[in-house]
Amino acid sequence: LDNGLALTPPMGWMHWERFRCITDCKTDPKNCLSENLIMRQADRMASDGYRDAGYIYLSIDDCWMAKERDSNGRLQADPIRFPRGIKFLADYLHNKGLKLGIYEDFGTRTCMGYPGSEFYLQLDAETFASWGVDLLKLDGCNADRKDMKDGYEAMGFFLNKTGHPILYLCSWAAYVSPYKDLTDYPAFKKYCNQWRNYRDIQDSWDVMYDIIDYYGNNTYNLSAYAGSGHWNDPDELIIGGYGLSFNQEKLHMGMWAMMASPLFMSVDLETIRPSSKGLLLNKMLLEINQDPLGVQGQRIWKFRQFEIWQRPLHKAHSYAIAVINSDNEGVPRTIKLSLSEFGVTGAPAFNVTDVFDGTSHGVAHVNDSFIYEVNPTGIYMVRLDPVMSWKR
Ligand code: GLA
Repeated sequence: LDNGLALTPPMGWMHWERFRCITDCKTDPKNCLSENLIMRQADRMASDGYRDAGYIYLSIDDCWMAKERDSNGRLQADPIRFPRGIKFLADYLHNKGLKLGIYEDFGTRTCMGYPGSEFYLQLDAETFASWGVDLLKLDGCNADRKDMKDGYEAMGFFLNKTGHPILYLCSWAAYVSPYKDLTDYPAFKKYCNQWRNYRDIQDSWDVMYDIIDYYGNNTYNLSAYAGSGHWNDPDELIIGGYGLSFNQEKLHMGMWAMMASPLFMSVDLETIRPSSKGLLLNKMLLEINQDPLGVQGQRIWKFRQFEIWQRPLHKAHSYAIAVINSDNEGVPRTIKLSLSEFGVTGAPAFNVTDVFDGTSHGVAHVNDSFIYEVNPTGIYMVRLDPVMSWKR
């Protein structure tokens, strides 16, 4: 969507994967979705380096609303959990240099049964703008998928008409992508800043890897539609949760960087492990993710448990490359490859830098073969920068 937003993949925090639809603050005051939770996470985003690394949006997902609209048909926040309303939170975030995201659904009800936007698109767009909301995630439960193309376009029109810049996240693609006749990537690109393609991420290796595999299979030629202003969205980052080992967290962060994916953390920033925090704030990975060329990396090939990925970067002939071992048998596996097998071209030799710890792995000529050792459910990932004065 050409609205001047999302020039690089958007970054922030989203409540859904970690905090879900916990609405009883009496029995679970720490985890329930409330004004207090949002303010506590916002404080950490500002004080612990996330905002300054680029994580700007704090997005409230489903379950923030009261069960019914008010007497004027307007949406309203749950009065017990959000006693000061959404505008108060938007102001609170803006004062901290953050932006507020909110969730609605294109259908009659949200996925968790709260009031949907069907028949209220314009009023809801106006309400969000009047509160100072900076991002809308529009879900697609309880809707006819045949109406989505027109409906999502209409909502984008109404958002734009408010005059307040609102990043537009569409779930439309995820609902129609099982149906080839309804899947219209040029339209997603035209009408949305970011779109979910596939299933919800959960706190598990299996689901996280399945999403990567979906991207690797590249049905619909996904990478062709990613770029400045419009991105494929493989869903939130689950780094810092309960389900992944440190190896798997590295693979997760590495691959979201390779795929030019929006980076929305879903984690309790008050209790996050230092190792997970280090990954989320890793400078080289963020630089790759935010690379101004905006080309989404692609899987070059997959053979049994091994796959290799490549992403061209902005600097002339630089690349990020990755080798994944998706096998969960206990032994690190080895594979012998030359850089040319990653589809790397344009220079005879490259400086090789580890993206996780910044150490140099020396210089590699494109045709030299190396043995890569990759941990089970792990990743080897480096940045390649051409050596200008190479002499063999
Ligand atoms: C759908 C979306 C999720 C989340 C939930 C909320 O499943 O895909 O990201 O927003 O709804 O109910």
